[in-house]
Amino acid sequence: MQYSERYLHLGERIDPDSHVICKYRVKTSAMSMMEAASAIATEQSTGTWTDLVTLDEDVFEKYGAKVMEIDGDVATVAFPEDDFSIEVGGVPQILSVIAGNLFGLGDIEGVRLEDVSFPKGIIEQFKGPKYGIEGLRRRLKRPDKPLVGTIVKPKIGLSPQATAEYILECGRGGLSNSKDDETLVDQVFCPIEDRTVAIAEAIDTLEEEGRHMVHAINVTTSGHRILELAERVQELGASQIMVDVLTAGFAAVQALAEDPSIKLPVHVHRTMHGAITRNPQHGIAMLPLAKLSRMCGGDALHIGTLGVGKMRGTCQEDLENRDACLDASLPYRPVMPVCSGGLHPGMVKKLVDIAGFDSQIQAGGGVAGHPGGVMKGAMAMAQAVDAAYMGVELEDHARDHPELAAALEKWGSL
Ligand code: 3PG
Ligand code: 3PG
Ligand code: MG
Repeated sequence: MQYSERYLHLGERIDPDSHVICKYRVKTSAMSMMEAASAIATEQSTGTWTDLVTLDEDVFEKYGAKVMEIDGDVATVAFPEDDFSIEVGGVPQILSVIAGNLFGLGDIEGVRLEDVSFPKGIIEQFKGPKYGIEGLRRRLKRPDKPLVGTIVKPKIGLSPQATAEYILECGRGGLSNSKDDETLVDQVFCPIEDRTVAIAEAIDTLEEEGRHMVHAINVTTSGHRILELAERVQELGASQIMVDVLTAGFAAVQALAEDPSIKLPVHVHRTMHGAITRNPQHGIAMLPLAKLSRMCGGDALHIGTLGVGKMRGTCQEDLENRDACLDASLPYRPVMPVCSGGLHPGMVKKLVDIAGFDSQIQAGGGVAGHPGGVMKGAMAMAQAVDAAYMGVELEDHARDHPELAAALEKWGSL
């Protein structure tokens, strides 16, 4: 691939208010860092593998990307704001620019998009979350404790009634949240409409008992159906909806969050992210994905388990994802950071001590695997969050909370 040094603007001052600025970690041997960074800027803006007789000076000046800085293996590339068409192209078009062909350039061994920052003009074209942390807390009447939730397990196979039973037990056990698992939508064994009605009745029963809980119904489906499906489950009494942002798309999250007919908070699951975020030398870090999820209006977002649960991801990276959810410099409501995946009551205090109280800690196996059953599993999780909230060690709290003691007995504590 030919690259052109014309895309190099090292050391020049670039106006951050008129550029989208990306940091790429680059693994290259065939090319120097400067050549690789130029190749990225070339391919992602006005150039290609060879020079173009059709590229005139004016177009290059206006729309060419600029390599601003090379610091070790990290290249900073600035894309002019006019390279983007937010109103019509939305996040899909943003990703085609900042995370498109560049990953396939054969001459570069690896590229990872580590971070992205947007100019005011683009930030203002997105609305962000409708509810966010404050809205979720208000709905749950839970002003400052961490939210504590579960994922109905097994992830598939339960009937609508059995699912509702599970949730009723979890609510009575003290959980504030539950959700469908990411692979459950409208399978033959649990039709989404029946499930939504049954769960809405369980949530209403809990409300009558003075317990406040929401359950996120997974509406991940094809683009032309997702709004209609969300409206339908809303009509049937759903209290929250969930979308798998990477399989359904950022545009799906934005459509649900911005459509005036959808009044429900959106829980954003990130399944499939491991295919993109896991390799430290190639792909996209979760940080840009977290920023885009917030811009699109996710109210709660899986940010990782801070180096504690079953999912890969360093504590440092997960804290950056958490910070992107909370960043007060943006004109959006803060997003509830969700920690989920391989968690159990014995991990809760360590997680809350790291993540803080503005977090949603949830466990599937860590509830449904409790020796005393689902309700005691829920009680153990709720007790663990109470202990963390009061700054009490889990073992001490377990002395007069047998459900927590049984969980620590089975899974230990960190
Ligand atoms: C594409 O969109 O397929 C590429 O941009 C093709 O462009 P090229 O033939 O110049 O690589
Ligand atoms: C999720 O969707 O967050 C996971 O399925 C959590 O399930 P686990 O707590 O059993 O890992
Ligand atoms: Mg899951």
